[in-house]
Amino acid sequence: MSTLVIIPTYDERESLPVTLAGVRKHAPDVDVLVVDDASPDGTGELADALAAGDDHVHVLHRAGKGGLGAAYVAGFGWGLERGYDVLVEMDADGSHRPADLPRLLERTAADDAPALVIGSRWVPGGSVVNWPWRRSVLSQGGNTYVRLALGMPVKDATAGFRAYPAATLRAIDLASVESHGYCFQVDMTWRVVRDGGRVAEVPITFVERVAGVSKMSRAIVAEALTKTTVWGLTYRTRKARDLFTRARG
Ligand code: GDD
Ligand code: MN
Repeated sequence: MSTLVIIPTYDERESLPVTLAGVRKHAPDVDVLVVDDASPDGTGELADALAAGDDHVHVLHRAGKGGLGAAYVAGFGWGLERGYDVLVEMDADGSHRPADLPRLLERTAADDAPALVIGSRWVPGGSVVNWPWRRSVLSQGGNTYVRLALGMPVKDATAGFRAYPAATLRAIDLASVESHGYCFQVDMTWRVVRDGGRVAEVPITFVERVAGVSKMSRAIVAEALTKTTVWGLTYRTRKARDLFTRARG
């Protein structure tokens, strides 16, 4: 099984080397792709320097800040073209502990592997360390809303630490994914669930970053709220219409 861990970066100069070293230590066989959006702080050049000394590390440079979703879509394309069996999403800032990676991968490698394995903060055994209470409330509230709006039995649909078997991504029309911010995670989860895919949640400990700043913004929250509401309404309307058509016919 060949695995690619995709790490999107925007101004993560201090954190990236630590995260990369952690991944190489805890999962020495996996390859890593850093997807940098021309970080003003030089993260891209630093990534190039780190990649030069390590065959397992690769870098994809994008022209400018295009959002987490676009960075991952580009990274998935890169990995699928090269035939990786499993593609992993992981933050650069240390919030996703490399030590949790082997457990995620184990689940993906099982015979009855699900279509998506999520490293979850909000299942028993999962937790969040050092998050301001407002972020915690936002994440839990957001996930509750997503669950209600979409009727999706997933506890942490906004989670950014996850593993996809390549087949799952190949079945998704990635070019049509237009979520920019963190609702990209909800979007992808929703596409998997809607297609009948099974989602497994593995508990993880999410640790708030110690260096740099979060790219979370009001616009990102607004996008997530609006899109989730539209997806939910569209889905329900379509289902009601199907029922009606069937009842008539
Ligand atoms: N290339 C690129 N382009 N990378 C980006 C961009 C972008 O526009 N925006 C953010 N990133 C990178 C960051 O550099 C980091 O490595 C990762 O994406 C996550 O960004 P953070 O800004 O650290 O996210 P967070 O800690 O606020 O949010 C976490 O929780 C969210 C909600 O639960 C992340 O795990 C998100 O993935 C998650 O959806
Ligand atoms: Mn973060």
